[in-house]
Amino acid sequence: MIDNSEFNIENWLQNKFSAQIFEIISQVADDMHLECYAIGGYVRDIFLHRPSKDIDIVTVGKGIKLAEAVAKVLGRKAHLSVFKNFGTAQIKYKDIEVEFVGARRESYQRDSRKPIVEDGTLEDDQNRRDFTINALAVCLNRDRFGELLDPFGGLKDMENLIIRTPLDPDITFSDDPLRMMRAIRFSSQLGFDIEHETFDAITRNKERINIISGERIIDELNKIVLSPRPSVGFLQLDKTGLLPIIFPELVALKGAETKEGVGHKDNFYHTLVVLDNIAKHTNDLWLRWAAILHDIAKPATKRFDPKLGWTFHNHNFIGEKMIPGIFRRMKLPLNEKMKYVQKMVTLHMRPQVLVDEDISDSAVRRLLFEAGNDIEDLMTLCEADITSKNPEKVRRYLRNFEIVRQKLKDIEEKDHVRNFQPPIGGEEIMDIFALPPGPEVGRLKSSVKDAILDGVIPNEYEAAYKYIVEKAKKIGLKPVKK
Ligand code: CTP
Repeated sequence: MIDNSEFNIENWLQNKFSAQIFEIISQVADDMHLECYAIGGYVRDIFLHRPSKDIDIVTVGKGIKLAEAVAKVLGRKAHLSVFKNFGTAQIKYKDIEVEFVGARRESYQRDSRKPIVEDGTLEDDQNRRDFTINALAVCLNRDRFGELLDPFGGLKDMENLIIRTPLDPDITFSDDPLRMMRAIRFSSQLGFDIEHETFDAITRNKERINIISGERIIDELNKIVLSPRPSVGFLQLDKTGLLPIIFPELVALKGAETKEGVGHKDNFYHTLVVLDNIAKHTNDLWLRWAAILHDIAKPATKRFDPKLGWTFHNHNFIGEKMIPGIFRRMKLPLNEKMKYVQKMVTLHMRPQVLVDEDISDSAVRRLLFEAGNDIEDLMTLCEADITSKNPEKVRRYLRNFEIVRQKLKDIEEKDHVRNFQPPIGGEEIMDIFALPPGPEVGRLKSSVKDAILDGVIPNEYEAAYKYIVEKAKKIGLKPVKK
């Protein structure tokens, strides 16, 4: 039960540095005769027992002046940045960041994200906040130190696990449409419900998300992806109609078709179960993205074959090819993180094949070589991909993957191919045969790699040299040096 009595000073002076900072802010604000409050997420997180190092301070008057005076008292260990255009200032002290701003009244025009900002009272400032739970303020002035100002029943909403806007939700969301994503993000992150009028307003205002930058949207979406049960957020994004706008490829996975009495699973819901499954085993954002995207090309590759039933041939490869386009549009990074997600998606069906008793060592070596250090992550993805509702089947599949893990371990101990580099590289091949750069060099290099992975020769220089000389002979090349 959350109530005001829990709100004593020990509860929110969370560490000695923030205690010291609050003490100084209180003193300085009193000396300057400024009304001053801690506000927003920091206050919310005290009640939710989520330690936070970002403190927002609102003062009725000039926030920058207060920040400058506080920074002076904190001395050289504090770093002050002033943003005159925004009327804000930030102090970094140890690992704490404190933002100072004057209380504001804001009004927005329909087609612009730029509000008209005027000085206001604390109440004006609380009115312009996104949710009741984010509008709580605590007075820092000495004679009212610790007094909680909760004009919209934020505490009660926290107790009832409710996300609700302080004002008419149409106004709150129209002022800043990103708040629609934030509502769903908080719901998914904290396990709160969105109050139904607030929820309906998201549905009504969904198109307004189009005026928000991709960077801000992806920040919120990634927080949903990282929440304990991401499906909670994704299902709400879907239900409100935001998902088709921000991530149509995921929505395209919906639907379970039946032909000639043969059905296939609904890949949208399957993907969400895979994502929830993997969330229990990893907090790595990119492995979670691999789960989201592992079947993304199923709609593009779906066919009905009267003999085989539904097929999704090459959906892993096509999925890999779709990823750069999706990452670019969604403002996800086009770097090694994307390459990692692509690799996971391409390889996600490979461990399954290794279950077969008669599988050759060569197939195991190839997978080890292609996955490299990401082999463990790949196995985590494959295990999360088991979404059967039949517990006996789940147990059997998991047992099979145990066997695959053992095979991988045995082969790696024997052959060390996980991070293997072929013993003869391209430069050396050009030297040995006096060849100019070209496709011939690449082909010879791959032949050595394949011979090692297939177990034709051991992973050693001498054997590789002999092998490549033989290969080269067949195309009329002779070594000019050893
Ligand atoms: N806020 C808002 N509308 C937004 C963003 C923020 O009203 N679109 C207000 C809320 O009062 C919020 C505060 O600004 O609590 C601080 O915002 P921010 O630091 O972005 O988020 P937090 O609420 O602190 O949550 P988190 O730290 O989890 O991002």
